[in-house]
Amino acid sequence: MQDNSANPLTNAKPQGDARPSPCRVALIGFGTVGRAVAKILCERRDGPLRLTHISNRNVEKKRQSWVPADVLWTDDLELVLHSDVQIVVELIGGLDPAGQIVRRALEAGKSVVTANKQLIARQGPDLLRLAASHGCRLEFGASVAGGVPVLPALRTGLCGDRLHGIAGILNGTCNYILSRIEHARIPFSEALEEAQARGYAEADASEDLDGGDARAKLTILVLAGLNAQVTPESVRARSIRPIDAVDFDYAAELGCTIRQISRADLNEGTLFAEVGPCLVPADSPFGRVQKNLNLVLTSGQYGGDMAFLGAGAGGDPTAVAVVSDLMFVAESLSGDARGAANKVSAPAISSDFETPWYLRFFVRDQPGIVARLAQILAEHRLNIDSVLQKPGFDKAALPFVITLEPCRDSQLHPALEKMSGLDFALRPCLCLPILR
Ligand SMILES: NC(=O)c1ccc[n+]([C@@H]2O[C@H](COP(=O)([O-])OP(=O)(O)OC[C@H]3O[C@@H](n4cnc5c(N)ncnc54)[C@H](OP(=O)(O)O)[C@@H]3O)[C@@H](O)[C@H]2O)c1
Repeated sequence: MQDNSANPLTNAKPQGDARPSPCRVALIGFGTVGRAVAKILCERRDGPLRLTHISNRNVEKKRQSWVPADVLWTDDLELVLHSDVQIVVELIGGLDPAGQIVRRALEAGKSVVTANKQLIARQGPDLLRLAASHGCRLEFGASVAGGVPVLPALRTGLCGDRLHGIAGILNGTCNYILSRIEHARIPFSEALEEAQARGYAEADASEDLDGGDARAKLTILVLAGLNAQVTPESVRARSIRPIDAVDFDYAAELGCTIRQISRADLNEGTLFAEVGPCLVPADSPFGRVQKNLNLVLTSGQYGGDMAFLGAGAGGDPTAVAVVSDLMFVAESLSGDARGAANKVSAPAISSDFETPWYLRFFVRDQPGIVARLAQILAEHRLNIDSVLQKPGFDKAALPFVITLEPCRDSQLHPALEKMSGLDFALRPCLCLPILR
């Protein structure tokens, strides 16, 4: 006898049961992620999703024999937008024409699934409103941390909490480079070249190294988890380029390592947010994240701290997130609803965190240097926690470190300005927050 009961967790009906007709899906963009999404959809033809269109420029070059013959390949986007598909998957990336495609699909009453962080970080709230006004859905679970299901967790699993903090390692390229400097004690430039040779960094990696990519992702996490709307440009981004192998030596002296951290704390109506290299305890969750993995930690008033770790990029993991969104949309088109609309606030934004600090100097050695620096710090009411100097360096270019007790960035900044004019300073002081 056939068991016709649904899976009580997923509601999925066993095969052979009478099911509604599958949801028609068009894929726009057949690149790394698009191809991996198509593969999953084509291998699961008996599921709730039916791939009907694949669209890409010069589409003839993209054709694959494993795609069933009834899928229409086209480079004509109008044909897709005027078809009877119910969900459009946008996987071409960038703002234009991706933004136009998403807008037009929503206006035509089609739900949209996208992995496009730049688009969602800049236009997400507008597009969500547009989707709601046309009775359809916009899902973007793959836009942050690739295959790590942190956005769905924020929008469903944690929406019962009141989150006040989100912090993450969101850029695999930076984490790869910093991990390599950490383990091989090689210069930044060599670690970057290695990352480029292995395909972990693009030829122009500025967007990754200088924090643009991570702050777009942080903007989306803030929207989904803290219900706050900010622009990516309003979040300060500091580059990892000045990090030197010697900084890992000094960080180790402090029981720390260095990672690019994206963090946001909502505190009495102000959102403290920034992206940049930070000292983190070597044995902390952040300190242990190696190579190109992503980690997101959330802090909630009721549920405390949560961690999400996994592959932040790659065709297959990202495709899983896209297909999960598709499954959800297909389910919601038949009546379900996830993530009740939370009210979005527009808080004041600041990067003026109060933290302990790591100051690294490169100086031409002469008597009285520490006394001069200590005097400037004292004039600005800044307390020294420790002074670290490793032996064996050339006195003509001597690195040493001062760590400070917690103070605000705004308190420290004038002291740094004064220090930058000192005649023994060979490089601008590298100043990193220490996260405990
Ligand atoms: N790759 C990842 O690991 C990853 C992870 C998370 C999120 N994402 C996001 O997923 C999206 C897709 O990334 P991807 O890595 O798959 O990119 P990709 O490999 O560059 O694929 C993009 C595809 O879109 C096509 N395309 C670009 N512009 C087009 C246009 N104007 N009209 C029609 N087709 C166009 C490209 O065609 P050509 O081949 O002719 O250039 C290519 O096939 C992006 O938003 C990205 O940020 C990617």
